[in-house]
Amino acid sequence: MDIRISEDVPESYLAEVRHILSNSEFLLLDKYFHHHKTSRLTHSIHVSYLSWLLAKKLGCDEKAAARAGLLHDFCPYNFREKTPKGEHPAFHHPKAAVENSSRVFQINDRERDAIRTHMFPLGPVPRNKEAWIITLADKICAAMEYCHVETNFMGKDRMIIARASA
Ligand SMILES: [Fe+2]
Ligand SMILES: [Fe+2]
Repeated sequence: MDIRISEDVPESYLAEVRHILSNSEFLLLDKYFHHHKTSRLTHSIHVSYLSWLLAKKLGCDEKAAARAGLLHDFCPYNFREKTPKGEHPAFHHPKAAVENSSRVFQINDRERDAIRTHMFPLGPVPRNKEAWIITLADKICAAMEYCHVETNFMGKDRMIIARASA
């Protein structure tokens, strides 16, 4: 798979996320649908980019926002599968995303907290500004994806996920 991103997407954003977007385990998210027709990978990129923009505007840690936004649903499995402890997927998957993100990437406490609390009010209350940004961006993107509204925050044709043919 190849992700092509237009040259007008700021390098300052891409520099924070490029290594995640080239990780083969992370790219498995493209196999799973999220919010009807959107892949979990595309949804994660939407949340990451919107979170980065919001964090920049609000003077927050935009690196943590971009990374935690991208990793918040890092769960390459079907959400309809039974969870290990029988927990509802809405409560289980943020914990799984923290576990996977910690194992595959170096994440800091701020990013960990943002990933862990992104389902608020289902689950724990966000404890830092970036975590509030991720939970808000996730809901905005999810609502637009459910309604099939064009959510490519990178703009038309700015991000193309080229899937290898089977
Ligand atoms: Fe989620
Ligand atoms: Fe999400």
